[in-house]
Amino acid sequence: MGTYADEINRRRTFAIISHPDAGKTTLTEKFLLYGGAINLAGSVKGKATARHAVSDWMQIEKERGISVTSSVLQFSYDGFCINILDTPGHQDFSEDTYRTLMAADSAVMVIDASKGVEAQTRKLFKVCVMRHIPIFTFINKLDRDANDTFELLDDIEKELGIATCPVNWPIGSGKNFKGVYERESGCVITYADTEKGTKEGHATRIPLAETENLTAQIGEEFLSQLTEEIELLDGASAPFDLEQIQAGNLTPVFFGSALTNFGVEIFLQHFLKMTTTPLPRKADIGLIDPVEHDFSAFVFKIQANMNKAHRDRIAFMRVCSGRFDVNEEVRHVQGGRVMRLSQPQQIMADERKILSEAYAGDIIGVFDPGIFSIGDTVCMPGEQFSYEGIPTFAPEHFARVRQVDTMKRKQFVKGIMQIAQEGAIQIFQEFNTGMEEIIVGVVGVLQFDVLKYRLENEYNVEIKLENLPYEYIRWIENKDIDLDKLTGTSDMKKIKDLKDNPLLLFVNQWSIGMTMERNEGLILSEFGRS
Ligand code: G4P
Repeated sequence: MGTYADEINRRRTFAIISHPDAGKTTLTEKFLLYGGAINLAGSVKGKATARHAVSDWMQIEKERGISVTSSVLQFSYDGFCINILDTPGHQDFSEDTYRTLMAADSAVMVIDASKGVEAQTRKLFKVCVMRHIPIFTFINKLDRDANDTFELLDDIEKELGIATCPVNWPIGSGKNFKGVYERESGCVITYADTEKGTKEGHATRIPLAETENLTAQIGEEFLSQLTEEIELLDGASAPFDLEQIQAGNLTPVFFGSALTNFGVEIFLQHFLKMTTTPLPRKADIGLIDPVEHDFSAFVFKIQANMNKAHRDRIAFMRVCSGRFDVNEEVRHVQGGRVMRLSQPQQIMADERKILSEAYAGDIIGVFDPGIFSIGDTVCMPGEQFSYEGIPTFAPEHFARVRQVDTMKRKQFVKGIMQIAQEGAIQIFQEFNTGMEEIIVGVVGVLQFDVLKYRLENEYNVEIKLENLPYEYIRWIENKDIDLDKLTGTSDMKKIKDLKDNPLLLFVNQWSIGMTMERNEGLILSEFGRS
């Protein structure tokens, strides 16, 4: 064991995923409240920015580039050092949202109890599955009328294809929300609407066997319904199995109400017990152990122009192993040079704190003079290895882009290439031509506006975007396929990425199915290689 083992082993790094409005921000705020040590005001202020009206928000976004709302929060609780990675929701859903998940060791999925699994959760969930990271489910808003509990679980299992294991079970909902039954202890925890902003609860714990007391608290009807449901549940649900949870095959499910602060601390306690310490990560020399290995990190996100006055770029790195020391030199593997990381900082919402050290599990932002790319590895000078690349996620919106003034070709190509390199957009070309025709793909439509704005403001190039009807993109995995012989539907389009990898664009799922049928052996993938 290395000397930093304790620091590393107390770290827990996770992302929260949800559909907008399910309660991610509220839950995060409550976590921070329990942590106590956090600069709550700062983080809440930052979060509030994300809730601003679109017009307001757009301005902020435009002034600063992309995804200002994405941040990392660090706090301590019960001896743990917890890093929460925020996955931007709302209109700023972008590739960064996906990439953030590449830096997390587990995910917390927040679901609105009256809505069940929603579109954005489904998308983010796919990335978690691809990485086999543990997923914890918090079903929120039980203080409002909720869907049937069994139906909610069924929805998760069917929609997401993951087995569920309820850790607790709700008793009623909305005006009739009485509390939860904790399966492990066999106790009912009665619902108490704790005031917003305080962490003191008035919930009481009553063992299920204390029938009289329970009847007095939750009423006969709810008690008999609960007894029935527990019986059903014990017979039907998957057994608790930590190995399955840590392999991402089984999700523990919790019920609560983030707003009224019910069930949040219980969730946090169970979560910390079940989730993992920083995970080893795959590199070209094998798995890198977070404790045994000296410092290493990989870049998962690059954010440009966070500060307009300085036109700076920040590269976000996940520390994967060892201890980072600001005074030591490191090797940027892809850039082929040994250097000191400049102005390493922890980015918390709007605030930045300069760091002198960090440990495996932490996220640091460093000043990037334009040398880093997404997926790059940083390690000790005496070493030379690369972490497995971050996949390119399938864009869902496409447009043909043209510059208005043809004389500005050079700036246009330079600008669009640089913005693509930051990972804000993906660029493609017509299959049989070069850069004359550029097709831009984005994960969230807002990125089109950001592209237009940035090209105008930073490169002085005006562009026109012509929306294309495609919504699905697939990378062709077969290396030896004869593309001229490939037969698809009439609305299918062949394109290529900047590395000349062939891709297909489709208008709908049906076309993908037809193309697969017509071309035996064709292997299509939703994720590209970076
Ligand atoms: P998000 O980050 O996932 O987008 O959701 P956020 O926490 O912002 O919550 C969305 C809305 O749902 C907020 O209301 C929030 O107060 C409410 N909410 C969150 N958790 C619960 C819960 O457990 N019960 C109930 N009843 N509501 C909950 P809002 O009116 O949009 O915002 P605000 O004015 O309260 O800030």
